[in-house]
Amino acid sequence: MIQVIGGKELQGEVVISGSKNAALPILAASLLIQGKITLHNVPDIADVRTFLDILSGVGVLIEKDGHTITLDTLHLQEQWLDLDKMKKIRASILLISPLLHHFWTIDIPFPGGCKLGARPIDTHLQGLKEIGYQTTVTPDSIEISGEKETGDIILNGGFWVTATENLIVANVLRQGTTTIKNAAIEPHVMNLIDMLRSAGADIKIRYDHSIIITGVETLETNVEATIIPDYIEAGTFMIIGALAAKEYIDIHHAAISDLYSFISCLQQAGVKVEEKDTDILRVYRAKKLLPTSIQTNIFPGFPTDLQSPLSVLMTQAEGTGRIHEVLFEGRLNFLWELENLGAHVAILNPHEALVFWPTPLRGGTVTSWDLRAGVAMIIAGLISTDTVKITNVEYIHRGYENIISKLQNLGADIKEI
Ligand code: EPU
Repeated sequence: MIQVIGGKELQGEVVISGSKNAALPILAASLLIQGKITLHNVPDIADVRTFLDILSGVGVLIEKDGHTITLDTLHLQEQWLDLDKMKKIRASILLISPLLHHFWTIDIPFPGGCKLGARPIDTHLQGLKEIGYQTTVTPDSIEISGEKETGDIILNGGFWVTATENLIVANVLRQGTTTIKNAAIEPHVMNLIDMLRSAGADIKIRYDHSIIITGVETLETNVEATIIPDYIEAGTFMIIGALAAKEYIDIHHAAISDLYSFISCLQQAGVKVEEKDTDILRVYRAKKLLPTSIQTNIFPGFPTDLQSPLSVLMTQAEGTGRIHEVLFEGRLNFLWELENLGAHVAILNPHEALVFWPTPLRGGTVTSWDLRAGVAMIIAGLISTDTVKITNVEYIHRGYENIISKLQNLGADIKEI
């Protein structure tokens, strides 16, 4: 459980960690490289630790030195695939393509992760079928086997992040040209592509969300890559600064260029944001917040992962905020937790909600519905008039590195109890 005593004025600086959603696909894609992969700026979060345990189970030798991780992939062996750990995280789906590349047949459980709605994986499976694999899906497991066919092909990425990533990894070593139409181009997808390019993959991106992969025979055996800063963590701290700074907080490695939609939304709400230096953002406490209306979207639109944290800011705006969550149908229910703290909300349907008027948030015990909803509860705690206790915090630790000590360093009264 995390306890936050609200009302402390924050000041100082915070350094944003490496991106969870970049680190996980890059770790998965590392299995394609037969040799040594050195990754810098890897966040020390629960999802990465679980993922590294799975990799170590299939024979990857792992060395850690701070945020640098070195993987030796020369001795892979399928029999130690930890299915229980795979069930725990959504990103285990990213192992499908590299495991198939090595072992021809896989039989894995449905991935777990945050419960954000149905989260089907049809786009992943359809793409794999089209390049020649046989797939059998039961309520409990996914069985895929066969061999990749050669030749040119057009696949559909559906604009989904992990589906696009899986299809990229499935095709970089396939002979022929693969065009992934409707590909996701989120910054973490680009980070994966950059890593694969540095390993020798031939991947081009077109203005129309197409990714074109020309299969290569082999990849380099010694590869180095750096995980990008986590723009969702940066956005989270911007909201914290706007609501709880004494005057301002400075955010280092703020991933400014990835956050244009979000920053302009904050500015429209009345938050003053200043670019100080290369990738350092100063966010001032807002004196008066105006109501905002957001619609989540694929990149470069407003990121769904910042919708729940922004909802807390909406509770302090002078007017009615409107949320349209396009991507997930289970991501608004956490608003009931905000209501438990005194906010006034109306969930109109699984995709739309209203947040009314500035309401002081009081103390109470609330739960984390998912990773981002969990961090929203921390933000609510920081501005509450009393003590907020948050349960189910393992969700938060999955994706935010040292969130408690980062907030303590800014002056917050927060601890794990
Ligand atoms: N979808 C399909 N078919 C598919 C795949 C996805 O219909 O084959 C739909 C899902 O129903 C859902 C949406 O697409 O409505 C998103 O799909 P999914 O849950 O599969 O998302 P993802 O690609 O695994 C990534 C991030 C999420 C982020 C979303 C959207 C990773 C590991 N996860 O999820 O991150 O919200 O993209 O940008 O990259 C988080 O970090 O808190 C998080 C949930």
